[in-house]
Amino acid sequence: LVWIESPTNPLIKVADIEAIAKICHQVGDIIVAVDNTFLTSYFQRPLDLGADLVCYSLSKYMNGHTDVVMGGITMNCGDLYTRLKFLQNAVGIVPSPFDCYQVNRSLKTLSLRMQKHQQNALEIAKFLESHNFVEKVLHPALESHPHHSIALKQTYGYSGVFSFYIKGSLKHSTAFLKALKVFTLAESLGGYESLAELPSIMTHASVPFEDRKALGITDALIRLSVGLEDSDDLINDLGCALDIAAQVETQDKSN
Ligand SMILES: Cc1ncc(COP(=O)(O)O)c(C=O)c1O
Repeated sequence: LVWIESPTNPLIKVADIEAIAKICHQVGDIIVAVDNTFLTSYFQRPLDLGADLVCYSLSKYMNGHTDVVMGGITMNCGDLYTRLKFLQNAVGIVPSPFDCYQVNRSLKTLSLRMQKHQQNALEIAKFLESHNFVEKVLHPALESHPHHSIALKQTYGYSGVFSFYIKGSLKHSTAFLKALKVFTLAESLGGYESLAELPSIMTHASVPFEDRKALGITDALIRLSVGLEDSDDLINDLGCALDIAAQVETQDKSN
């Protein structure tokens, strides 16, 4: 089994799904699975790119209202379906009817929500890229992103999840996160509300320090899940918080 997450969490790297699937299928009987939680089937269709299995945390964009915990797997292959269906029945991992109802209802607004997540996140990414207290923005739609051309080739758009490096250290990122008023400090993603988090001490704290260092998951890396609010409110919030974080550095330099 080759398991791909694209874009990856939290560094937003993009894998060439078609190329990986082709190599795996040439090499032998290798199942290619893609976690498509970040983009959903609205912006990326891994089965069309040659993947065998696509997995979703439906708790995220597919449901989008932060009130369900549920997952899903899609596939084209009857044999895989039969094997997984047997396991689902044997293990008993069935969601409740009410959760199914919630996700089914939410899917009716998926296209509208994804378009708004995309629009808000793009505006914010451009704002952050131009801000002098931001080191680097990791968003596949930006030409500065190293995998921009792969993203253009295989996706129809981008969600609200992306990351950026603030200038400075843990002190500055902490000051920034504390100063946010519209963004909530939380680990989840894909809901209507904007969230911000610090992967090094939150979602990815369990990754050993040396691995985090090698990957670039530093204390200056901040992950956003941009929600459906007014983009001006979100940009103002981030701008004010960056100004406050920048002050921390000024004070330190004067000490
Ligand atoms: C990309 C991705 N896949 C899967 C999951 C797991 O989701 P759940 O918490 O709904 O099991 C997460 C959770 O954050 C995620 O970010």
